[in-house]
Amino acid sequence: MREEIVLISPEEIEHQKEFALKIQGMADRPQTFHIVTYGCQMNAHDSEKLSGMLLSMGLSPAASREEADVVLFNTCCIRDNAQRKALGNILWLKEVKKKRPDMLVGVCGCMMQQKGMADKILKQYPFVDFAFGTGNIHQLPEILLNTLETGRDIRVGLTDSTLVEGLPTQRESRTKAYITVMQGCNNYCSYCIVPYVRGRERSRDEKDILRDAEALLQDGVQEIMLLGQNVNSYGTDLGGTSFPSLLRKLDEMGVPRLRFMTSHPKDLSDELIEEIARSRALCPHLHLPVQSGSDRVLREMNRRYTAQQYLQKVDKLRKAKPDIGLTTDIIVAFPGETREEFQDTLDLVRKVRYDSAFTFVFSPRAGTRADTLPGRVPPQEASQRIEELIALQESITKEMLTSLVGQTHQVLVEGKARRSQGQLTGKSGRNISVNFAGGEHLIDTIVPVTITDIGANTLRGQIQETTIEGEKQ
Ligand code: SAH
Ligand code: SF4
Ligand code: F3S
Repeated sequence: MREEIVLISPEEIEHQKEFALKIQGMADRPQTFHIVTYGCQMNAHDSEKLSGMLLSMGLSPAASREEADVVLFNTCCIRDNAQRKALGNILWLKEVKKKRPDMLVGVCGCMMQQKGMADKILKQYPFVDFAFGTGNIHQLPEILLNTLETGRDIRVGLTDSTLVEGLPTQRESRTKAYITVMQGCNNYCSYCIVPYVRGRERSRDEKDILRDAEALLQDGVQEIMLLGQNVNSYGTDLGGTSFPSLLRKLDEMGVPRLRFMTSHPKDLSDELIEEIARSRALCPHLHLPVQSGSDRVLREMNRRYTAQQYLQKVDKLRKAKPDIGLTTDIIVAFPGETREEFQDTLDLVRKVRYDSAFTFVFSPRAGTRADTLPGRVPPQEASQRIEELIALQESITKEMLTSLVGQTHQVLVEGKARRSQGQLTGKSGRNISVNFAGGEHLIDTIVPVTITDIGANTLRGQIQETTIEGEKQ
């Protein structure tokens, strides 16, 4: 499996650094940049690396996208609307560029990896100056330099299965950080484009991950989110390591808070459940996408579990860690989904009682198996189903939040609450927003907050007296 993977050598990264320095030394080089990011955390983290590289070329962040000398769109193509949104915004920049012809427009990310996309950009988007895919991120210095020297660099025939270490990273948050543990996906869920745009599963070496974590801890990071399309299969391509064992090492290292995204239910092993129950650092939250509650639909989706098996795993998890909060992803109106099969999804949602759910209407993606399946659900019926599902989940969310009133949760304080004066906001271990009164000196720290009330999808609370006294000493 690992032969398909292109390991980017340290020499290649050094080479890219030379390109970056060359740009830095150019008298008429672009001065500022702005990155527009779509999609999942993996893309958000890629944007942090793109920022890091642009900074290493001597560029600084622009106040807005209109004012930037380089605008880079890091795109997503998971659903048609994600792609349309990106293309619409790219097109809009054409007008801005008429007034500022020196502006450079770049496009990267998952959308670029699709068949024919580079050609489309090449021919139909002449104002786009450079474009590259998810496997070429490390080449940004070379690509930008080439664009400056030759006018345009649109990479075609992109590789997707690269594994790269040592890119500079500019974090978005002071207290929270991402670490990619693996990239790509081998699952081929029949609706999903990710395996085609992110390539084969490849795990980073454990020592590289632990080194990154150590550096983040030194930097005062409070929460690390481990990223992968399917973190549960971390290490299967390496041998001798596994995701639970990686989690244990990170816990032992003293990471204050640890999270991970995303887990495939079929790979949620007993060993991982044990680690979730045992770990001190792991937050009591698991995102466990179910997609559907109908066995026939799950089979057609190629998810490789039944509703029953999923429910059994949820049971095990809750027995092992009773305070765990679950969230999920659900697709409605998969081709051929009947009204009864949709009811099975509602039934499962009633049984599991998620804290919250991300709900999507099936969107056909070219090249995937589901795109060729008969029985498309009419849009009106699909909207009705998703509205029904959202209404059900909203009522469950309210009940779940209410059940937390009176409990004390550890909250990582993120900043001042936007709407209410004198209020702070942060995230509980269950990943629910909590607002409470407190001084700004608490920002970036973890404090115990007793939940007093619920808001819309949020909790309200009161900081525990002991902490306030502790702070005064
Ligand atoms: N790797 C993650 C999910 C990545 S995509 C996992 O396996 O869970 C995030 C979510 O988008 C998916 O869980 C799914 O619910 C949704 N999704 C993916 N492809 C879709 C499509 N073609 N139409 C509608 N929703 C889709
Ligand atoms: Fe897509 Fe399935 Fe892979 Fe998730 S596990 S990225 S839904 S193919
Ligand atoms: Fe989108 Fe790519 Fe993530 S398609 S959801 S940005 S892996």
